[in-house]
Amino acid sequence: MPDRDVLRRQRESLGAAMTDILDTVHPPVARFRLMSLGMSPALRTESFRDVVGDKGCLSCGNCVDACPVMAKQFGPIVIPNMRTSMALEHLVADQCLRCFACIRACPQTDRGLKEFALAYRRGEKVTHALLATAFLSLSLSGIALFHFREVWPEAVIGALGLVHRIAAPALALTPLVYLWLDRCHFGRRLRQIASWGRTDAEWLRQWWRAIRSRGRVSFPTFGETHPGRKAWQLSLCAAFLVFAATGSALWIGEGTLGKSLIQRVTWVHARTAMAMDVWVAIHLVRVLVRPALQRLRRMLALHGHEADLLVERAQYLG
Ligand code: HEM
Ligand code: HEM
Ligand code: SF4
Ligand code: SF4
Repeated sequence: MPDRDVLRRQRESLGAAMTDILDTVHPPVARFRLMSLGMSPALRTESFRDVVGDKGCLSCGNCVDACPVMAKQFGPIVIPNMRTSMALEHLVADQCLRCFACIRACPQTDRGLKEFALAYRRGEKVTHALLATAFLSLSLSGIALFHFREVWPEAVIGALGLVHRIAAPALALTPLVYLWLDRCHFGRRLRQIASWGRTDAEWLRQWWRAIRSRGRVSFPTFGETHPGRKAWQLSLCAAFLVFAATGSALWIGEGTLGKSLIQRVTWVHARTAMAMDVWVAIHLVRVLVRPALQRLRRMLALHGHEADLLVERAQYLG
C-alpha cells in the first residue's frame, strides 16, 4: 500500500503537469494521451494481449476532425496516416485556441483526464453565459424602451424597465464572478490585453492586407489572442463603465437630476448601447453564423466530389 504522502505528492505533481499543458498555447492531445492509462484491458484480443496499456496514437483522426483551427484553415485531411495528433502539432501549433476539443475526441485519452480538461475553463464558460444573458436582456429591453416607450401599454413598459433593472446588476457582477470562479484566466486575460509583441504587429499587417485585397486574401487568425480580440475586449470594458455610470444616473437620479441632464445622460446611454449592439452582432456572426456557413460551404463543396476522394484514396493505397 503506497504511503499517503507519496500519493498526495504524486497527485499534486500530476495536476501541476496537466495544468501546465493546458495553459500552454500548443495542441495538448498528444501529451494528454501519453499521460493516460493507455489501451483498456477490455479491448485486448487473444492474439494482441500486449496492446493493453499502449498509449500510441491510433491514427483515427478524431482530434483532427474536432479541431476548429483545422476546420477553418486547412480543411479535412483524408490521407489515413496523416490523421494523427502530429498533424495538429505541425499545422495548428501556436494557433491553438485552447478549446480542448481534441482531448475530448481522443479514444486513447482516459475519462479522468478528459474531465479535468473539460472542467479547466468551466469558470470562464459560466461567466460568459452570465455576461451573454445579462447583455442580451439589457439590449432587448433597452431597444423596446427606446423605440416603443410611447406606443406600448404602461404595464409592458414598466415590466421592461424591471427586466432592465434586474439584468443591470447581473452585468455589473460579471467581473467579480469571473475573478471568483477563475482567478487564473482572469489574470491571464488582463495580461494578454495589456501585452504587445511582434506577432501582434504581424497580425495587423496581415489584417490590413486582407482588407485591401477585398476578399482575395483571408483574414489572419493567430491563436488565442491578437489585436482584434484585444480591441473587442477593451471596448467591452470601456462600454460597461459608461453603462454603469450613465445607467446609475438614470436609475438613482430620476427625480433629482434636471430634465435636460437626464436627456443628455439618456442620449449617451442609448448611443453607447447602439454601438455595442453592432459590436455584439459582429461577435455573433464571427462565432455562430460564419462557422455554420463554412460548414455548409464545405458540405456543398464535398458533395459531387466523393468520386474524386475515392480516386485519391485508391491512388494512395496503390
Ligand atoms: C448567444 C450568444 C453568444 C454566443 C453563442 C457566444 C459564443 C462565444 C464563443 C464561441 C466564444 C469563443 C470565441 C473564440 O474562441 O473564438 C466567445 C467569446 C467571447 N464572448 Fe461570446 N457569445 C455570445 C454572446 C456574447 C455577448 C452578448 C458578449 C458580450 C457582451 C460576449 C462576449 C464574449 C467575450 C468577451 C469573449 C472572449 C473574447 C473572444 O474570444 O472573442 N459574447 N463567445
Ligand atoms: C450597468 C448597466 C446598466 C444600467 C445600470 C442601466 C440602467 C438603465 C436605466 C435605469 C434605464 C431607464 C429605464 C426606464 O426608463 O425604465 C435604462 C434605459 C436604457 N438602457 Fe440601460 N442600463 C445598463 C446597461 C445597458 C445596456 C448593456 C444596454 C444595451 C446594450 C442598455 C440600453 C438601454 C437603452 C436603449 C435604454 C432606453 C433609453 C431611453 O429610454 O431612451 N442599458 N438603462
Ligand atoms: S484548437 Fe482546440 S482542438 Fe485544436 S489543437 Fe487547440 S485545443 Fe486542440
Ligand atoms: S484522437 Fe485519434 S488521432 Fe488523435 S491523438 Fe487520439 S488516437 Fe491519435
